Amino acid sequence: MAKMWAGRTDGVTDSIADDFNSSISFDSRMYRQDIRGSIAHARMLMKQGILGEDETAAIISGLEGILRDLESGALAFDPAAEDIHMFIEAELTERIGAPGKRLHTARSRNDQVALDMRMYLRDETGDIISLILDLADALIGQAKGGRDAVMPGYTHLQRAQPVLFAHHLLAYVMMLSRDVSRLRDCLKRMDSCPIGSCALAGTTYDTDREYEAELLGFSAPCLNSMDGVSDRDFCVELLSCLSILMMHLSRLSEELILWSSWEFRFVRLSDAFTTGSSIMPQKKNPDMAELCRGKTGRVYGSLMGLLTTLKGLPLAYNKDMQEDKEGVFDALDTVRMCLKVFAPMIRTMEPLKENMLRAARQGFINATDLADYLTKKGMPFREAYKLSGQLVRECVEKGTVLEDLPLENYRARSPLIEEDVYAEISLDACVAKRVSMGSTGPDSVDRQILWAEDWLKSERA
Ligand code: ARG
Repeated sequence: MAKMWAGRTDGVTDSIADDFNSSISFDSRMYRQDIRGSIAHARMLMKQGILGEDETAAIISGLEGILRDLESGALAFDPAAEDIHMFIEAELTERIGAPGKRLHTARSRNDQVALDMRMYLRDETGDIISLILDLADALIGQAKGGRDAVMPGYTHLQRAQPVLFAHHLLAYVMMLSRDVSRLRDCLKRMDSCPIGSCALAGTTYDTDREYEAELLGFSAPCLNSMDGVSDRDFCVELLSCLSILMMHLSRLSEELILWSSWEFRFVRLSDAFTTGSSIMPQKKNPDMAELCRGKTGRVYGSLMGLLTTLKGLPLAYNKDMQEDKEGVFDALDTVRMCLKVFAPMIRTMEPLKENMLRAARQGFINATDLADYLTKKGMPFREAYKLSGQLVRECVEKGTVLEDLPLENYRARSPLIEEDVYAEISLDACVAKRVSMGSTGPDSVDRQILWAEDWLKSERA
């Protein structure tokens, strides 16, 4: 059958070319946006006197019928259609005849695809934001529940200083808050309407692009028709936001994988979010966290793929741009799945506080506090640092820890050290004494929890 665009050619194409060219298998997911865009376009054309009232009414009810039938399953996508735009237009003309052929006045498919992508991604971004907020909520819940648990904080994955478990989790809430703000920012630049660019140069019709943009919930039309149809920055930007978000999920996944291992045993993941081994009966594997870590790669891949696709394209539309969709859609699907599994995995995770505390007692993570103690007694920090290091060495040699080293051993190295040293280097004291803003001290952590709860409330409002 000849194509709808037959004219310049006979419109008869090789079936291999058809398969290669077709995008309906993946762009059909934008059918709602496409139909909404067409309804707004018909309204605008009527308001401007370009379409008659009856024709417009027929177009709108025809499009509404198509939407209904697609939703109910009464109408299926035709895999032979070139893309979702052609499919809906052909179906409309099939249903209502002549008026259907007038709908494509003063617009082009290049405008439509640029519009549909913006509308689709705008909706999806909103969903992703709510899922991030749900994960943040789960993390805040764990932070509040385990507010007093002390664990070793690490640098270089070596025990460094004691921190509250809540403080560690809240660090991820901060990351997620930036992810949300990045996505909201991304939405701002998605918020200009390309319809009416008419492929690239605008049109001789007296259209009202402002009106159409408003009908479609955009703040304004794109200001340059060539940019309107060829801009895919918003896809790249969204992929970049999603990549950063996945990087955060991947880091948290890595922590969960470590923490749930026998080596750490800081948390127990619920059975519902772990798997067994086909051969080793004792295994309880953190597959969900590993998959989130693993899937990060494909989201990065989509970002790199699209940047590379776009880098050599002259203005305005080129068919290469059809390649924008699968990567962005896949990234959205991937991120959505990861967030959906992550929130309940965090909610059902059990912190093993005694194990955290035991680990915190073993790594000389109060050595900085010992140095601070000496500094407060008047010793210059560099000397105090060195002396603390020597005391740690002494403990290692004697097989003991700073808390248990007898006072005479301390005093043999410095008369500045007195009985009060033990209170200063107890783990609870080490945490409690952290009073600087943003620190792991309990007051600071409580302030962070309050901030996070306020933030969540305002984001959800
Ligand atoms: N399926 C196309 C895409 O996804 C729609 C726009 C095609 N426009 C054109 N003139 N071939 O990019």
